Amino acid sequence: MGKLDGRVAIVTGAAIGIGEGIASSLAKHGAKVVLSDRNKEVFETTRRLERKGYNVVGKLMDVTNFDQVTSVSKEIVHDFCRIDILVNNAGIGTVGLIERLTEEDITKTLEVNVKGVINCTRAVIQNMKANLYGKIINISSVTGVLVSDPGFSVYGASKGAIMGFSKSLAVEVGKYGITVNAILPGVIDTPMFNQGIKTSFSKPPLDVVKSLDKGIPLNRIGTTDEIGEVVSFLASEESRYITGTSITVDGGSTLSECAGLLLEGGLAGLGKN
Ligand SMILES: NC(=O)c1ccc[n+]([C@@H]2O[C@H](COP(=O)([O-])OP(=O)(O)OC[C@H]3O[C@@H](n4cnc5c(N)ncnc54)[C@H](O)[C@@H]3O)[C@@H](O)[C@H]2O)c1
Repeated sequence: MGKLDGRVAIVTGAAIGIGEGIASSLAKHGAKVVLSDRNKEVFETTRRLERKGYNVVGKLMDVTNFDQVTSVSKEIVHDFCRIDILVNNAGIGTVGLIERLTEEDITKTLEVNVKGVINCTRAVIQNMKANLYGKIINISSVTGVLVSDPGFSVYGASKGAIMGFSKSLAVEVGKYGITVNAILPGVIDTPMFNQGIKTSFSKPPLDVVKSLDKGIPLNRIGTTDEIGEVVSFLASEESRYITGTSITVDGGSTLSECAGLLLEGGLAGLGKN
């Protein structure tokens, strides 16, 4: 018996990265999972998960296209009768100093990272309300909510917006048995992360990862299945009294007040061990 047996889930941006990890974890725990993405690589990912014996279906869906999102949601309800779990994961990582970002960069980031979440939620909410059951899990970030770095102002704004949306929606739909929560991932090893370190640093990517690892109390960056397992918890009955909040999954990377000093050799007087 899996904790998600009989549940129907849709994951956005599931072709690669965290979305694939989430889809895999939900399916492992027994859910029927619709992997959706704007990229047709989603079908190859779906086949890979099918080969593991998971109950999965792939759909092409761009979260910024409300008509497409509505029609995919209708197909899922037609084929599987219901949608129990929505994971709003699709996102893009725009990095750049505020004066250098183009109008297009800004609009695209907000369209995918904020409007995309709203579109998918609008498309499934009637079905969840009718069933008096639903689990909505939004993938935000530690960036913009707990910490940030130069170049992340617009991305951070988009991820902060997800928190406001999750809390406000949780208040609105709680009486229908629907919970809404967010996950704040720290640094997770995905194509988005790897692209980011290639474009933002002149050092070889492996050296950047080693430096990052040193600043994380658990001494390593995270994996996509580590996000997937927390999503599965929020999608299950184990979390039934949790709504309108967030879980940080960052290996402790946002904890240190003196990370810079520690990286330079430690605080005076603490000694070595
Ligand atoms: N990787 C990290 O370190 C990290 C940290 C914090 C938060 N996040 C968040 O986690 C989520 C997934 O990130 P990732 O690192 O796996 O990214 P990724 O770039 O590796 O994968 C993102 C997926 O989303 C899809 N996608 C992008 N735009 C879409 C659209 N308009 N419609 C449908 N699909 C779309 C892409 O095709 C891709 O398959 C994002 O919301 C990201 O902001 C990532």
